[in-house]
Amino acid sequence: MSARPAPHTSAIDVAAIRADFPILDQQINGKPLVFLDNAASSQRPRQVIDTISRYYEHDHANVHRGVHTLSQRATDAYEGAREIVRQFINAKDTKEIVFVRGTTEAVNLVAQSFVRPKAGPGDEILISGLEHHANIVPWQLVCEQTGAKLKVIPITPQGEVDFAAFEKLIGPRTRILALAHVSNALGTIVPVEKFIAVARQHGVPVLLDGAQAVPHGKVDVRALDCDFYCFSGHKMLGPTGIGVLYGRQKLLEAMPPWQGGGDMILSVSFEKTTYNQLPWKFEAGTPNISGTIGLGAAIRYLQSVGMERIAAYEHELLTYATQRLLEIPGLRIVGTAAHKAAVVSFVMDGIHPHDIGTILDTEGVAIRTGHHCAMPVMDFFKVPATARASMAFYNTHAEIDRLVAALEHTRQVLG
Ligand code: ALA
Repeated sequence: MSARPAPHTSAIDVAAIRADFPILDQQINGKPLVFLDNAASSQRPRQVIDTISRYYEHDHANVHRGVHTLSQRATDAYEGAREIVRQFINAKDTKEIVFVRGTTEAVNLVAQSFVRPKAGPGDEILISGLEHHANIVPWQLVCEQTGAKLKVIPITPQGEVDFAAFEKLIGPRTRILALAHVSNALGTIVPVEKFIAVARQHGVPVLLDGAQAVPHGKVDVRALDCDFYCFSGHKMLGPTGIGVLYGRQKLLEAMPPWQGGGDMILSVSFEKTTYNQLPWKFEAGTPNISGTIGLGAAIRYLQSVGMERIAAYEHELLTYATQRLLEIPGLRIVGTAAHKAAVVSFVMDGIHPHDIGTILDTEGVAIRTGHHCAMPVMDFFKVPATARASMAFYNTHAEIDRLVAALEHTRQVLG
């Protein structure tokens, strides 16, 4: 995902797209639903729901285990989804695509299997002040286990990662640089290419948390030249409980398995177990088969709309929302980076974000309020919480007008 969407991308047919999302067509508290909580979890098009239903109605059996027809169909669909993911992020090989529960599990896997064995006292793990908990806590666990130290690149008042500070913090003891590609709390698009280039010079491996980037623009792991890339299905029109760890093949090959059990073995005896090859070495137990197939359908849907079109349209929504929200007296946007995804975090004078969220719900408008699983970001901006509107390509300008009207109403009631 680049900082600026491609120019001249033609508009998308939002009305036709919305017709694919049955959940959007409903009343909440007597008002048409306006769903602006997409950074927490997006909605699913009928194509994803139907793919999962069809799978359960016709094809379900366990994968990699049976010679019977249903097991083969399920295996083909499961491994087919891996190829869809590979193409989507332009990985070299399906061996580099590991299915996990989500971004959180992907980061934990890398923390435990890649970093823990080679970290010790005096070593450092480098993250940024923008990270959400999934890209903080797994590293704190590794630090407790190994005696390594967590170093945090500061952020600026605009909510950007301070590049000059990063250049001073990275060094010979840095065992990994783990960075958000896009901030969930503020929407900042981190210019990760610059950070990766410096990490390369120092020989430091890089993990990117792409949970908020992958649904909103083109991601090419080979062009990025990162070592690990993590994302979740449920933020990109797919099911919950499924996500992806991309890892460079030679690094994954050298890593020990993380969890043991079925599917990740070649042979087991009480004396010795040998492990399966990539990517199954990291997929212990019966996997989330339907979730994986649903994720494949979600990617197909995103591709049918076009990632560049999605990025361009969402950028329009961001510009419009930013401009309209700033018209509201006493409203302050938190996170004003030059390059942002379609996320607007804000606070309003004298009104707690939770009260904003509650009143908005009575108007049928769904946003997230709270710390957005990124408490250190809230601490940096000295706010206990923010209200956050996060947009997807099925949102409209008219829905942003509804958000603004609902916020005006909130101000009149509570301000
Ligand atoms: N990390 C998710 C969010 O941003 C849950 O809301």
